Amino acid sequence: MGMLNNKIVFITGATAGIGRACAVDFAREGANLILCARRIERLKKLAETIKKDFGVKVYFFQLDVRDKNAVKKAVSSFPDEWKNIDILVNNAGLAKGLSKMDNGDIDAWEEMIDTNVKGLLYVSREVLPFMVKRNQGHVINIGSLAGHEVYPNGNVYCATKFAVHAISKGIRFDLLDKKIKVTTIAPGLVETEFSEVRFSGDKERAKKVYEGIQPLTAEDISNLVLFAATRPQHVNINEILVTPTAQASTTQVIREG
Ligand SMILES: NC(=O)c1ccc[n+]([C@@H]2O[C@H](COP(=O)([O-])OP(=O)(O)OC[C@H]3O[C@@H](n4cnc5c(N)ncnc54)[C@H](OP(=O)(O)O)[C@@H]3O)[C@@H](O)[C@H]2O)c1
Repeated sequence: MGMLNNKIVFITGATAGIGRACAVDFAREGANLILCARRIERLKKLAETIKKDFGVKVYFFQLDVRDKNAVKKAVSSFPDEWKNIDILVNNAGLAKGLSKMDNGDIDAWEEMIDTNVKGLLYVSREVLPFMVKRNQGHVINIGSLAGHEVYPNGNVYCATKFAVHAISKGIRFDLLDKKIKVTTIAPGLVETEFSEVRFSGDKERAKKVYEGIQPLTAEDISNLVLFAATRPQHVNINEILVTPTAQASTTQVIREG
């Protein structure tokens, strides 16, 4: 028996990294999954693997969380059996580039703000009414160490993650009279496709981010998401801030070799 048998868990950005690892961890515990991201072929393969390996149900669909009409349409057309969402993992997010403000790429700024902040808001806006109606649920937002500390050239990405932390606190206030939990998971360096996306596919540059340290893995983070999701009803994990042992802050990292 899994800890989350028959629960419904909705994970955004499930085609890679932390979101994908969350899908596997939650399925292992018996949860039925709602998964979305833009790369539908990857989602299809993941859904097949998960159904075969864990015998849970998976409902998946292509979604760009930046498209508010698409978010609204997708969530409002969930089949009835999928509407009782127990846990929402707002994970879809990205960084684009590293640059000083006076030299910044406005399209990259918009992509980060539209995905990490507005996308998270659109999805939460559609899902929260289901939770409020049932007076139960758990929203888990993937924040970042970058939501606590700004690092050089990280201006807009850090701002989006500060916003995620503020939004989590806001939802906590808003829903304090409901039996709805809100958690922020704030990781430091995690080796996923994150840096490849940040550097527009430059694998060499992406690799350097994790050079000489043992970074966190996507599974390290999904294990913590699962931990937060499986506490007793009266326990709300507000936040977990986690870094590799070799990282003390966004700028202090000890590298070997
Ligand atoms: N890696 C780190 O060091 C680190 C540290 C702290 C926080 N985080 C946060 O962790 C979260 C997951 O990142 P990751 O490290 O797992 O990176 P990743 O491997 O690049 O995965 C990102 C996921 O987000 C999805 N996504 C991106 N834009 C989307 C959009 N517009 N609509 C729907 N889905 C979208 C991607 O799917 P598609 O491309 O298929 O849409 C992918 O599944 C992000 O919020 C990130 O900011 C990462």
